[in-house]
Amino acid sequence: MAEDNGKLRSADWFGRDDKGGFIHRSWMKRGLPDHEFDGRPVIGICNTWSELTPCNIHFRDLAEAVKRGIYEAGGLPVEFPVTSLGEPIMRPTTMLFRNLASMDVEESIRANPIDGVVLLTGCDKTTPACLMGAASVDLPTIVVPGGPMLNGKYRGEELGSGTDVWKFSEDFRAGKITREEFRQAEAGMTRSDGHCMTMGTASTMACMVEALGVTLPGGAAIPAPDSRRKVMAHMAGGRIIEMVNENLKLSDILVREVFEKSIKVNAAIGGSTNFIVHLLAIAGRVGIELDLDDFDRLGSQLPLLVNLMPAGKYLMEDFYYAGGLPVVIQELKDELHMDALTVTGKSLGENIAGTVCYDRDVIAPMEKPLIEAAGLAVLRGNLCEDGSIIKPSAATPELMQHRGRAVVFETIEDYNERIDSPDLDVDENSVLVLQNVGPVGYPGMAEVGNMGLPMKLLEKGVRDIVRISDGRMSGTAYGTVVLHVAPEAAIGGNLALVRNGDMIELDVARRRLHLDVSEEELAKRRAEWKRPEPHDIRGYVSLYTDHVLQADKGVDFDFLVGKSSSVVTREAH
Ligand code: FES
Repeated sequence: MAEDNGKLRSADWFGRDDKGGFIHRSWMKRGLPDHEFDGRPVIGICNTWSELTPCNIHFRDLAEAVKRGIYEAGGLPVEFPVTSLGEPIMRPTTMLFRNLASMDVEESIRANPIDGVVLLTGCDKTTPACLMGAASVDLPTIVVPGGPMLNGKYRGEELGSGTDVWKFSEDFRAGKITREEFRQAEAGMTRSDGHCMTMGTASTMACMVEALGVTLPGGAAIPAPDSRRKVMAHMAGGRIIEMVNENLKLSDILVREVFEKSIKVNAAIGGSTNFIVHLLAIAGRVGIELDLDDFDRLGSQLPLLVNLMPAGKYLMEDFYYAGGLPVVIQELKDELHMDALTVTGKSLGENIAGTVCYDRDVIAPMEKPLIEAAGLAVLRGNLCEDGSIIKPSAATPELMQHRGRAVVFETIEDYNERIDSPDLDVDENSVLVLQNVGPVGYPGMAEVGNMGLPMKLLEKGVRDIVRISDGRMSGTAYGTVVLHVAPEAAIGGNLALVRNGDMIELDVARRRLHLDVSEEELAKRRAEWKRPEPHDIRGYVSLYTDHVLQADKGVDFDFLVGKSSSVVTREAH
């Protein structure tokens, strides 16, 4: 960054005529002429490319476009790899490693001669991980989202990532399609570069960074293979040089009003429930107090405007052609802080001036929304003393007020073993309860909260029942699913005390989740409760379970919350 004295941070490495300056320049040159170290801004391109993160597989190309913009504007680009997180591949869950990746991003930026950063992000956790890490260093930073895939296509049908997976696997299980058709559908669903093209977590995160004002306007929706994404990357490379010269840091943009704005936008796009834990964690890194009730207070009464799967019928490619997120922001203009500063150096209002919607079936106007009051709702009660959440737009309206008998699974293995058993005592009024899939319990807070229904109910034609857990749900999933119960079962939250046959009351309108068991009985069960054995007692998992915060605090590490900076006072040589 151009510090207050106008000096570049990188000058402390490359601008010196001493032994240190010699070492820093000499080892970096390798074909670069001396004038590359003449005091021009050094821009780190933080790349989450990996062949094990297929959604980010095109990022080396994208980085080249960013570099062209940086060179053109007179900077020196330096691309560096960071831990990448491949959602469909990693076990036990990428969420276990989000904080690890964020630490890699943070320390890689801070330790190096970088004046400004471009973050290349795509697959679900790569976006929050990069932004959390960069926020902790607080340099001029711009996000270049990798973009969604093209719409899936198979035999004349449009396929949505994730959302249609369930359909094909059920059809194959039921013998309705052959193994060959099953494989062909896989290829049709994922037929181009890019991340999931439903309004799942990756698209939600891309919209989140655009709503936060840390990417160029319109950056969220451009499909990955569309050449305009490379133009956007090129422009971001140019803009980051100006941001360094203006000393426009992340903390200048990420103020409280901007987080509020992002919560409202998320309601209107029908964004993933994962948005909550990631936004809370990012806010924590810049020292902004945000809590679970802010999501309900600001977002729950807002309407759904974007008709994308899993809540609606279209996909991100359609969203882009309809005008993308700038249209949604324009629709919400009376709700948002339109004078909020963004990476363009202009306000949000200036950025979206002149925006036109080209398809009202994809993006509805405020006067005629797809669903009224569709934002995420925060529930309270003795079953979730620190809160839990539900996505009403993904739920069955008739189940939003429900009283039913608990059918309890102590672990995900227990669930897998018994869910399809003909002996399982369950009916359409039951409430499925899954324990020990939270941050500490899984560990990593797995996306298993939308547990599939028992076969005996599916055979009866039942399509949804109430489900409750301390885990998360894939952004591409749906159902009447209560998630993120805090405190989680594995640390002794009341969720751990639920037993088969207990009555549970869900009342979304009253924001209530209640376990109808007396305090005396709960106290007795609490005294008998034994903490589950930890899954791993070594290495990163041990660090994780010792320091991870609960869902209502964003699942970050306790020691990473709060403001930090780019300052490093000691030399290596
Ligand atoms: Fe990467 Fe969905 S699996 S975005």
